[in-house]
Amino acid sequence: SQRRQVDETLSPLRLSGEQLLLVKKRMRGALEAGLKSKGPSAVKMLPSYVYQTPDGTEHGKYLALGLGGTNFRALLVDLKKGLLQNSRLNHKIYPTPVEIMQGSGEELFDHIAQCVGDFLDYMGMKSARLPAGLTFSFPCEQAGIDTGTLVSWTKGFKATDCEGHDVVGMLREAIKRRNEFDLDIVSVVNDAVGTMMSCAYEDPQCEIGLIAGTGTNQDDGAEREKKEEHAGIPKMCINTEWGGLGDDGSLDDIITHYDSEVDQNSLNPGKQRFEKLISGMYLGEVVRQVLLDLTRGGLLFRGQVTEALKTTGIFHTKYLSQIESDRLALLQVRSVLQQLGLDSTCDDSIIVKEVCGAVSHRAAQLSGAGVAAVVDKIRENRGLDHLDITVGVDGSLYKLHPHFSGVLQQTVNMLAPQCTVSLLPSEGGSGTGAALTAAVARKKLEK
Ligand code: BG6
Ligand code: GLC
Repeated sequence: SQRRQVDETLSPLRLSGEQLLLVKKRMRGALEAGLKSKGPSAVKMLPSYVYQTPDGTEHGKYLALGLGGTNFRALLVDLKKGLLQNSRLNHKIYPTPVEIMQGSGEELFDHIAQCVGDFLDYMGMKSARLPAGLTFSFPCEQAGIDTGTLVSWTKGFKATDCEGHDVVGMLREAIKRRNEFDLDIVSVVNDAVGTMMSCAYEDPQCEIGLIAGTGTNQDDGAEREKKEEHAGIPKMCINTEWGGLGDDGSLDDIITHYDSEVDQNSLNPGKQRFEKLISGMYLGEVVRQVLLDLTRGGLLFRGQVTEALKTTGIFHTKYLSQIESDRLALLQVRSVLQQLGLDSTCDDSIIVKEVCGAVSHRAAQLSGAGVAAVVDKIRENRGLDHLDITVGVDGSLYKLHPHFSGVLQQTVNMLAPQCTVSLLPSEGGSGTGAALTAAVARKKLEK
């Protein structure tokens, strides 16, 4: 029957508690291997040179800049003794055009400098030479707080001549080329680290940052520097780059042929396998692959594979979130599908909703398995029977999706029963975190 065939199609996407425990174990192994390894490892465990979270005494005006998966953000933050003065008025978001993401590095950084120039004009602060913190949501090998060499692009970026170069240096050069304003770039952090910093400002128990957005990543604020020459240095936050779990084949038993298809069609085949099961940039694509399969099997859309269904990227996180919303009647689901160019019957809309549900449920569970691995590691490192810890979270998937956060929390509770984990949505975003990092870095210089 149709029901049975749909169930069979979805069954590889449904993970058992045992499989999730295995993922947790593999994540734990990969985190430890990444810390020890001198060469490349699936989970990179990159040192951040952020040694401490904010203590509330940070002060001053900072420019917070952030290159994320889809946008560039600029924000003026005024840290006044313990009070984070932040409003929409001092904030601008600039979508990054695909031509820029995939053009030349020079064009990309010129675009960023142009956005910064526009923002400073808007704020009337072009002549101020503000201290700035940069959030850069890609893997960087850092040798200090104000320098980071891009290891490799992820998500939708492939601008040329950037990998292997210092992103702060490239931004400084672009600002010089523009010759309109000057900036004092004090720090560069990954968005997961920035998220932890901004949440730690509100909750001192926050020692972890989690991103579930266009990409996925996690920062462990309780680890040590991985290089031996730094042994003895106090704890330093580690950008885990956990999206790379499975790049050595360790997730092959849960990866379905839908996932492989998505991987093969991506800009970085074979890379970021965990991320491709979890994050907003890929979930819609996994859904589309399943829908294609069901349609070819005559179970959906009257067996008609339309151009719309063949279009890469039609299912943005936004649409998945709408389709899965419990407040939406099936008729409205059909109208969302209609907007995407997909003509559906009532039965079709039920199946589509089920497919979206299976894919996002798996994503949230896998993220939960990852978080469980990290909190248990911290708990064991501290020799505790029980750990209370807060995880700061950001990203469009976490914030927009109706069920992701709930399933994530449930999974963490199930897989790490010796930890009480509170998920704290980041308020100011990692931009604020970048400003705080800059403020903390400056305080250190002043000492
Ligand atoms: C934002 C953070 O809110 O979330 C960014 O401020 C981060 O630093 C982003 O990169 C991640 O989400 P998305 O959905 O934009 O990839
Ligand atoms: C990708 C990037 C990582 C970033 C994450 C979330 O996984 O490699 O650096 O933190 O996306 O934006």
